[in-house]
Amino acid sequence: MKKPRRNRHVVSIAAAAAVVSCVVPLAHAQKFTELAQTPPMGWNTWNTFASNINEALIRETADVMIANGMRDAGYVYIVLDDTWSAMERDAQGNLVAHPEKFPSGMKALGDYLHERGFKFGIYNCAGTKTCAGYPGGWGHEFQDARTYASWGVDYLKYDWCFSGTANAPDAYRRMSAAIRAAGRPVVLSICEWGQSKPWEWAGDVGHLWRTTGDITDCYDCQQRWERGWKVILDLQVSQVQPHTGQNDGIEKYAGPGRWNDPDMLEVGNAGLTFEESRAHFSLWCMIAAPLMAGNDVRHMSPEITALLTNREVIAIDQDRLGKQGWRYHASSTKEIWVRELDGGDWAVCLLNVGAAPADLTIHWDHMWFLPKEAKVRDVWAGKDLGAKGHELTRKVASHDVVLLRLTPTGAAAAK
Ligand code: GLA
Repeated sequence: MKKPRRNRHVVSIAAAAAVVSCVVPLAHAQKFTELAQTPPMGWNTWNTFASNINEALIRETADVMIANGMRDAGYVYIVLDDTWSAMERDAQGNLVAHPEKFPSGMKALGDYLHERGFKFGIYNCAGTKTCAGYPGGWGHEFQDARTYASWGVDYLKYDWCFSGTANAPDAYRRMSAAIRAAGRPVVLSICEWGQSKPWEWAGDVGHLWRTTGDITDCYDCQQRWERGWKVILDLQVSQVQPHTGQNDGIEKYAGPGRWNDPDMLEVGNAGLTFEESRAHFSLWCMIAAPLMAGNDVRHMSPEITALLTNREVIAIDQDRLGKQGWRYHASSTKEIWVRELDGGDWAVCLLNVGAAPADLTIHWDHMWFLPKEAKVRDVWAGKDLGAKGHELTRKVASHDVVLLRLTPTGAAAAK
């Protein structure tokens, strides 16, 4: 049977990519694999601004992120999502910046960010068009990677709209090879929404991969494509079946340089209460998620700034062991998430899933995997609670968390 035209195209481009990837200088390839040793942190335009982006917004956001401490807390990747480009490529097939939104061009914007200690991120799509209908990367991968390198791009979010019957691993491998060939170290964020189980194949293709469709700013609402953070979290847990809740889900695929991405943060956006923002942020840290803020940082409350820049909470996300946490317990009232940290510490997060405040208990004695003797710190309160004991009961507001860090003491500490 005659193969559809598009498939022939895929095969020929994949073959070209394979040849080019063989001649990529080793130094470049090594740099690529050394990136994102902890989950990338930054800010992305999409969740709040969608297509209403321009160079003034990006520059103002960068300036504010310096003034409010976000940059120094680790949020260094500033990423322009969809709609940054002109509607057409130029006569040579090059991507060009949208002339009204980014009149100074992308190189100038990249320079502005680099001069201020940020890294420059950009978006495109493996298909023929981006999700918003702008020129996609299909068939232009090597050309585009060179363009991005010439602009000083450090991070590429690569989407999956208008990809027809293309094969995701092939398409993303091609872009990965193109980036390595262009010679500038670029974090590759694979955004194919978990459809082809990227955790199984993307570990050496990109640095992070989306596990689900898009997030929106609510606790557990569900529209056709967009879902609240709790729904995204549940979907991520159910991505691997059977999953007994004992660290045998997709968490086992994450580690330094390879992260499951449950999508960007909605922290501080209008559809979440403060408690829901705090719980969302805590759980993203528990599961070693990339922390890409998605709110208008120019107009956020001091409480949200403090939340996003809490060093002890960020330290859980950025823990250098790179082990993703997992859900140890789930019932109609509460969930308990656990994460092993460097040096024998553990993070434990107690979530009230009910609609009212509740007294919730953690039975330490049941959690055989934790250090037997440990001191407990309430991370959000910034308070040491003393020795672990048998159980801990706390009143927790609806959709809020208690986030604890356990440090071994006694015999376990000596090991
Ligand atoms: C897809 C992605 C989103 C965002 C939009 C832009 O829906 O999953 O994160 O990039 O496209 O159009």
